[in-house]
Amino acid sequence: MGKNLVLIGFMGTGKSSVGLRLAQKLKREFIDMDREIELISGMSIADIFKRYGEVRFRSEESLMARKVGKRQDIVIATGGGAVLVNENIAALRENGILICLDASPADIYARVNRKKGTRPLLKKNVTIKDIERLVQEREPFYACADIRVDTSSKELETIINEIFQEIKDKQIILNS
Ligand code: S3P
Repeated sequence: MGKNLVLIGFMGTGKSSVGLRLAQKLKREFIDMDREIELISGMSIADIFKRYGEVRFRSEESLMARKVGKRQDIVIATGGGAVLVNENIAALRENGILICLDASPADIYARVNRKKGTRPLLKKNVTIKDIERLVQEREPFYACADIRVDTSSKELETIINEIFQEIKDKQIILNS
């Protein structure tokens, strides 16, 4: 059976696109936790925050982490805050390796601005400085990753190759 590849990292670092491509390459199922939460609740993440608040979203996120953490052989993209809770990290790590995607605040800014209004934790007029501060606050949580890859200004294929190289260099066994 194969270990799950679990993508963690700040908003706008490319977790969903990298996850989908990794899954295609490995011929595995891809699960985007936020999209699953949206499917199950019938609401967008922004609406869950607006109607029920962040606490409710975090509880859905923890349930989802527990559920997908039990699976094997899949690629999982988490939401940027999924690793803020230790139990979520433990659940995702149970059958998986944690891959953190990093990006420069300027890159994150450009990416999140392309999808304005979908990320309730970022105010409309968020600045690069705000993002820099938030990334710094989150850093201790992202440090739990087994592998880290910087995605700033890189092509998707380059990022995928770097992830595979890191897996090889760290002698991580994906399939047993
Ligand atoms: C969040 C990140 C979002 C989403 C929610 C909260 C966070 O996912 O889960 O808005 O706390 O960083 P993305 O990282 O895919 O934007």
